[in-house]
Amino acid sequence: MCGIVGYIGYEQAAPFLLGGLEKLEYRGYDSAGICLHDGQELVVKKAKGKLEELKKLTDNGACLQGTVGIGHTRWATHGEPSDVNAHPHLSDSCRFAVVHNGIIENYLQLKDYLMSKGVSFRSKTDTEVVAQLIEYYDEGDLVDTVIKVLAKLDGSYALGVISKDNPDEIIAVRKESPLIIGIGEHENYIASDVPAILAKTRKIYRLENNEIAILRRDSVQIINTDKEPVTKEIETVNWDIDAAEKGGYEHFMFKEIMEQPKAIHDTIAPRIKDGKIVLDEIHLTAEQIRSFRKINLLACGSAYHVGVVAKYVFEKLLRIPVEADLASEFRYRDPIVDEHTLTIVISQSGETADTKEAMKEAKRRGSHVISIVNVVGSAIACESDDVIYTWAGPEIAVATTKAYSTQLAVIYLIALHFGELLGTLAPEEYSRYVEELQTLPDKIGQILKNEEKVQYLASQLFNSRDVFFIGRNIDYALCLEGSLKLKEISYIHSEAYAAGELKHGTISLIENGTLVIALATHEPLIAKTISNMEEVRTRGANVLCLACEDHPEVEKVAQNTIYIPKACDMMLPSLAVVPLQLFAYYVASLKGCDIDKPRNLAKSVTVE
Ligand code: G6P
Repeated sequence: MCGIVGYIGYEQAAPFLLGGLEKLEYRGYDSAGICLHDGQELVVKKAKGKLEELKKLTDNGACLQGTVGIGHTRWATHGEPSDVNAHPHLSDSCRFAVVHNGIIENYLQLKDYLMSKGVSFRSKTDTEVVAQLIEYYDEGDLVDTVIKVLAKLDGSYALGVISKDNPDEIIAVRKESPLIIGIGEHENYIASDVPAILAKTRKIYRLENNEIAILRRDSVQIINTDKEPVTKEIETVNWDIDAAEKGGYEHFMFKEIMEQPKAIHDTIAPRIKDGKIVLDEIHLTAEQIRSFRKINLLACGSAYHVGVVAKYVFEKLLRIPVEADLASEFRYRDPIVDEHTLTIVISQSGETADTKEAMKEAKRRGSHVISIVNVVGSAIACESDDVIYTWAGPEIAVATTKAYSTQLAVIYLIALHFGELLGTLAPEEYSRYVEELQTLPDKIGQILKNEEKVQYLASQLFNSRDVFFIGRNIDYALCLEGSLKLKEISYIHSEAYAAGELKHGTISLIENGTLVIALATHEPLIAKTISNMEEVRTRGANVLCLACEDHPEVEKVAQNTIYIPKACDMMLPSLAVVPLQLFAYYVASLKGCDIDKPRNLAKSVTVE
């Protein structure tokens, strides 16, 4: 959600800025812009729509000269997507330019104040107040002025600032929104995320809250808001550069679906030694684990859906009550949480604003927090008590696939580990489950080999107007993800329904030809799900059933069937999600949708 880049060096800045913004497209945006110091003044070019528009406008950057500049992809919050609302924003007399990710919550008061002082505004954004405040409070020293302005701001921000009077500096600062500094040879960079700078450098600083970076061509200085120097370790990013590229695939989403066997293997293999799960990352004694009376799972989007699967898994294996909560709801409902509650926070990006705040709320109430995070060094990873990283590698497509799968794998690791410690799992059961877990990558590999069947079904069904996903128990948890995947990338209306709830409303929506995707993998309830399939079929539904290969009886009711290999019940979501991801992918592809960057969506939701 909003991407920031910045360059200061001896080369032309525009090519880096445009290239960097392209690498941040995955974050979601609806306009883009860049601002360069051309030796005389600040020159801004902005365009609504895709980055292509900005590239056309600037002749791929060729029409903008300058060796210092900032750029931005904007995901509209305050003010519609438009050229004028796009960043960078200039101050009244065009002496300062600002890019911003986050929300300035008190911008209306600040704007009123500035307008009463005669400042005129061009845009409807919250960000413009930052540029205007810098000019209003300017007394010559940009760092001093930025510090003064920060004290006036409520909310979250990652900011990049340049000044007409000082072509030799970029000032960068963050609070709650992510920002990294890339360290190059005679050039330095700012960016919202690593892919933007990976082609240039692997050496980075991760700015912490309220740290200010002063970038010059040959130096980076980091200070706090009292102007004291901050000593930081340089981090070396060890990502394979190809991991952040499409590598011959048409879309990142497809590549990431295909990467799931490896991602799951990389996530579980280092944590299983001689048939035993070793989770050194969790700093809890068996005694502490025994003292938990409840587990809370907090997350947003697909990560929340992992939480819903986890509820079934933990309650079955640990016999501890579990609540899976949407982070945005949890944080505002005065939750009942104390030191006897274990909180597990799930987030691919580690930056989702609601998840981060929900985590803080749980911590404030005395809960121990374990996070499951993909992005190393992200805010949630740093602020939780323990972090278990998913080793999915960079996930670029907005719709998550491999991060979801690796999060699920970590849930199994935790559940089995705790089950063994608490004695709720018999040793032979434990060993059997650990073995099962290790077979998941191969079984997913088999499903991926047979993806043509899913592609064929997508070609038959992609014109559906409404789709209902039904299932019971852990299948229902997976329906939530299957339905989200389909709607977010294909724009087909779809709903996930607990199959047992159908008769309480949804069945009235079933008409001739309505597509119902029935998940019938959960062995103890297959017969019941088949009854529900019959109920919708009788009313004209077109039923596509997803079942394990040893349950061909579903074909008696379903018009179409997708089979997955057998596995223990609780791990079946890891297998069943794959055909659902592929189905969503192919449907979206046939409908000509922008698969990796669906409209209105952002990968990293850094505002609430
Ligand atoms: C966005 C993404 C989803 C993701 C959700 C939570 O909506 O598009 O794929 O599940 O945010 O993000 P997180 O980074 O916290 O997992």
